[in-house]
Amino acid sequence: MLKVENLGVRYGAVAAVRDLSLSVGQGELVALLGPNGAGKSSTINALTGLVAPSAGRIVLDGQDISRVRTEDRIRAGLTSTPEGRRIFANLTVGENLRLGAATRRDPKGVRQDMERFLALFPVLSERYAQAAGTLSGGEQQMLAIARSLMSRPKLLLLDEPSLGLAPKIVVRIFDFIGQLKAEGLTLLVVEQNARQALRFADRVYVMSSGVLRFDGPPSGLADEHGLLNLYIGG
Ligand SMILES: Nc1ncnc2c1ncn2[C@@H]1O[C@H](COP(=O)(O)OP(=O)(O)O)[C@@H](O)[C@H]1O
Ligand SMILES: [Mg+2]
Repeated sequence: MLKVENLGVRYGAVAAVRDLSLSVGQGELVALLGPNGAGKSSTINALTGLVAPSAGRIVLDGQDISRVRTEDRIRAGLTSTPEGRRIFANLTVGENLRLGAATRRDPKGVRQDMERFLALFPVLSERYAQAAGTLSGGEQQMLAIARSLMSRPKLLLLDEPSLGLAPKIVVRIFDFIGQLKAEGLTLLVVEQNARQALRFADRVYVMSSGVLRFDGPPSGLADEHGLLNLYIGG
């Protein structure tokens, strides 16, 4: 579904991502792991079009989208839930959800999805008319994911969904991510929390200092002498 070929991302003199190639197949959950500063968010932002790659190609369903605008990538089925959630704190839960559907032109389908996600997340339903900023961190992460789903993505990119959340909440967020995978959604999940990310991962990539260090099944990661400890910490 997604093929990234020799991607490079630069910020002036800083090469944040170098010669990165990866793929995500239909229905797969792929984990992209690595320590702080590895270039994970830069990779995600290049995939969504928030930063322009300095090199390489991004191919979605056979179409080169490297130069396609972000909103057109969303229309093509590629949506991300950014690091730090970026919900609109002053807008209500309902308004945040509706914004996730801004690229859609099927009001009836949008209403149906809205009802579906409110049923799936009772807490969002209870807080529907409340400012999103009043939700807890875990609830805000759920809202951020639900908002992304409102665009009806084929491929959802999650950038550190566990960031800043209590361990118990993190487990719940990943339970839900596993449920999305079971429903057939294709996912690329960026994490520093390797243990959680690997629970549902079909394949895993590890990067550090902008470069890919490992590519294989989660079981292979444990075999590579201390790779987890070296790059991820547990
Ligand atoms: N907007 C930016 N301007 C300059 N440097 C940046 C910017 N964003 C990220 N970087 C640098 O790029 C590198 C990779 O960052 P990032 O992609 O955020 O890593 P990660 O998400 O893996 O923590 C880091 O060295 C970071 O300081
Ligand atoms: Mg990041």
